[in-house]
Amino acid sequence: MKKQKWSLLSTAFTILVLANSSFAQTAKKKNIPVKKSISTVASAADILAGKALIQKSDCVACHKTDVKLVGPGFLQVAKKYPATEDNYTSLAYKIISGGTGVWGQVPMSAHSALSQLDAKKMVKYILSLK
Ligand code: HEC
Repeated sequence: MKKQKWSLLSTAFTILVLANSSFAQTAKKKNIPVKKSISTVASAADILAGKALIQKSDCVACHKTDVKLVGPGFLQVAKKYPATEDNYTSLAYKIISGGTGVWGQVPMSAHSALSQLDAKKMVKYILSLK
């Protein structure tokens, strides 16, 4: 009888611990998207700086905002890629190193003098257009 009581108690305890840890996990999971969206949202200052950088650079020789020129229109690019940290990073890398094959066979020239930080601001502006 005593033994049974103990096992009941320990079962209840286990359930409590499990329930508690799964609650903690859910809370953690809920926190992740919140954190992500904070780091993902481009600040207005970055977007404005990116716009100015693009206007000063050679981008406009090949890109217009709304229609395809040599490269895709920036609006088309914005529609293709959600504004996430990952896309800021990978597109910034693509602008710096140049490349081809995503929008056709015409290559984008490399911009090796550009810093990753400035290239990222340009991308933040582009992906804010949609
Ligand atoms: C010589 C012409 C040219 C110049 C200059 C140029 N681009 Fe491009 N850009 C292209 C072409 C062509 C593509 C499509 C490449 C492909 O299909 O992978 C492209 C693609 C892109 C993309 C989308 C990349 C992808 O993988 O989807 C972004 C973003 C971009 N350009 C931004 C810029 C910015 C910012 C500048 C100025 C620093 C710039 N481009 C200058 C021709 C150019």
